[in-house]
Amino acid sequence: MEHYPVMLNESLDWLNVRPDGVFLDATAGLGNHSRAIAERLVTGRLVMHDRDGESLEQARGFTADYADRITPVRGRFSELRQTLDRLGLSKVDGLLADLGVSRPQLTASERGFSFMNDGPLDMRMSREENVETAADLVNFSSEEELARIIRDLGEERGNGRKLARALIRARPILTTGQLARAVMSSAGPRTGPLHPGTKVFMALRLAVNSELEEVEALVRMLPSVVASGGRAVVISFHSLEDRLVKQGFLTHARGGRARILTKHVVRPSEVEVRTNAASRSAKLRAIEIV
Ligand SMILES: C[S@@+](CC[C@H](N)C(=O)[O-])C[C@H]1O[C@@H](n2cnc3c(N)ncnc32)[C@H](O)[C@@H]1O
Repeated sequence: MEHYPVMLNESLDWLNVRPDGVFLDATAGLGNHSRAIAERLVTGRLVMHDRDGESLEQARGFTADYADRITPVRGRFSELRQTLDRLGLSKVDGLLADLGVSRPQLTASERGFSFMNDGPLDMRMSREENVETAADLVNFSSEEELARIIRDLGEERGNGRKLARALIRARPILTTGQLARAVMSSAGPRTGPLHPGTKVFMALRLAVNSELEEVEALVRMLPSVVASGGRAVVISFHSLEDRLVKQGFLTHARGGRARILTKHVVRPSEVEVRTNAASRSAKLRAIEIV
């Protein structure tokens, strides 16, 4: 399964990869960005990190030509400080985070992220993590809790309560297809460009994986994991994530811990959006630690 790397050249430029540096790809995915970083290293090293062991295995295969300079490691952003300590690294010279899920994670029916392919309602980014699945949330949360998730994480301000009620009526919901049908029963047939299920699926995915908490933790810890003069580049696809990145960078800049390099958010080129529609909502921001 292909996954086009998003803003590959832009990421490498903003990251300023030095041939002798130690770099961290916090979101290895299929290893596209990792491979491009490793290609530019001579005496340097790349820590190739992901919370999903299955993705990490694929990334390991895709970067096998550069295995001598790559350390693959599984972990979550929120555990990054401990992960680096375990590797004997105090800080890295640059960090890249290309947030969200990869195309194979999103489209594999057995991972349960997609309403296009019917599968078990899972949505865990890592099947090794012992966290609640989307089915657990949908079937066992209270109406208030479900409404809050849909309203706050799906940005469905007006419809949270109505959609939560429809999900509760349709219980048990065990597959992505059943969830999509339950949402449709409340929202009605598709009228705009978005499938009515898009926002509910997104909200559940963010909740299952504590994605916003993870991004917040990552941005907060940047000065303690990236060396002075080193850079951090973050690509986000969701407005709630981008807001956290922007606010976190501003807080570091105001506190004298970092300099914001991207005065304006960087967007993919028209050519990239034309060849890879999934890149259209990407936003890249970069800082340099002082
Ligand atoms: C968009 S994909 C990265 C794609 C990769 N840059 C490429 O081009 O091949 C995002 C990856 O980040 C991982 N990820 C998301 N949140 C994470 C977290 N909190 N900690 C570690 N990895 C995470 C996902 O498992 C997924 O593999």
